[in-house]
Amino acid sequence: MLGPVILAASRSDKMRRFVSAAPGTKQVVARFIAGETVEQVVPIVKDAAAKGLEVTLDVVGEDITTPEQAAAARDAYLDLVEHLADLGLGARAEMSVKLSMFGQSLPSPAATLNGGPSGPAPTFPGGHELALANVRPVVEAAAAIGTTVTLDAEDHTTLDSMFAIHEELRKDFPQTGCVIQAYLFRTEDDARRLSEAGSRVRIVKGAYKEPASVAYQDKAEIDKAYVRILKILMEGDGYPMIGSHDPRLIAITQELAHRAGRKLDEYEFQMLYGIRSDEHLRLAAEGHRMRVYTAYGTDWYGYFMRRLAEKPANLLFFLRSMITK
Ligand code: FDA
Repeated sequence: MLGPVILAASRSDKMRRFVSAAPGTKQVVARFIAGETVEQVVPIVKDAAAKGLEVTLDVVGEDITTPEQAAAARDAYLDLVEHLADLGLGARAEMSVKLSMFGQSLPSPAATLNGGPSGPAPTFPGGHELALANVRPVVEAAAAIGTTVTLDAEDHTTLDSMFAIHEELRKDFPQTGCVIQAYLFRTEDDARRLSEAGSRVRIVKGAYKEPASVAYQDKAEIDKAYVRILKILMEGDGYPMIGSHDPRLIAITQELAHRAGRKLDEYEFQMLYGIRSDEHLRLAAEGHRMRVYTAYGTDWYGYFMRRLAEKPANLLFFLRSMITK
């Protein structure tokens, strides 16, 4: 019951101001956000690598409101690539991006990029073209140091644009990954389409507030859909990335991978920084590829609220920390 309320609050500016200023917030945020700056996150990446873990780094931020903010997001990722180059970890440290942070959520800069009002009509509404223009140099820079980028999945209204950008980027950088969400009715079809050789697809349950017209609302239905999609990915020709902390789904993944004859390096597990950390180490010790989604930066509000919504016990912990401060 609490989850949808927290997700609604994740889009409220009033709540953003309240939560950001609340006493005790920083302490709780630190569980999920690895630091505020790239300098703070580098030692965490080194430590993960020393433990046999891989990472995907996310500079937090989404739904920006000006083209300048979109350019700043691009530059923050380019700066991250420079730091990763120094570490020399190659594909063991990749990046995850939210296109709404790269300009996709802006109203309509596309006309300008297409040559002004008389230019060709944009295929997608809003900042689709701007997001593509901003993310391309990041993907190029990542490829130049032997790593790659995965496009996160945001709310369902953004996905046609995300998949089109993914397809476009893959023409030059076939290793570019994308995320699909089990709670959406469309996802089984997307999984079939994406299950081709060389594709990298992360499957997750889905973290946004979606209407019943497009998404399963019941947890058991979402889990069943997840397993159906897992089967499609495991039996397909792509590289499945299993984004979940759910013990049942992890066991089912291992069984399906075995049945599909996949070796341990033909799929990977992914979990979020700060969640089930012992399980990260256990799976890595078993010989699995385990990639930790490591978020950092100052614009953590949306990311943090989704983590609270996933486990309402986190909210109680948060409220308690406010009272005891
Ligand atoms: P579930 O929610 O059932 O959790 C299983 C168990 O994990 C819980 O019982 C609890 O022990 C633990 N757990 C899960 N979430 C927790 C939390 N917040 N705090 C504490 N414990 C928690 N979503 C999306 O819409 N777009 C995206 O691009 C991504 N990207 C992404 C990358 C990676 C690597 C992961 C792991 C997840 C995402 N997600 C995402 C989020 C995803 O959609 C989903 O909301 C969370 O993974 C929680 O779902 P689980 O599969 O873990 O199961």
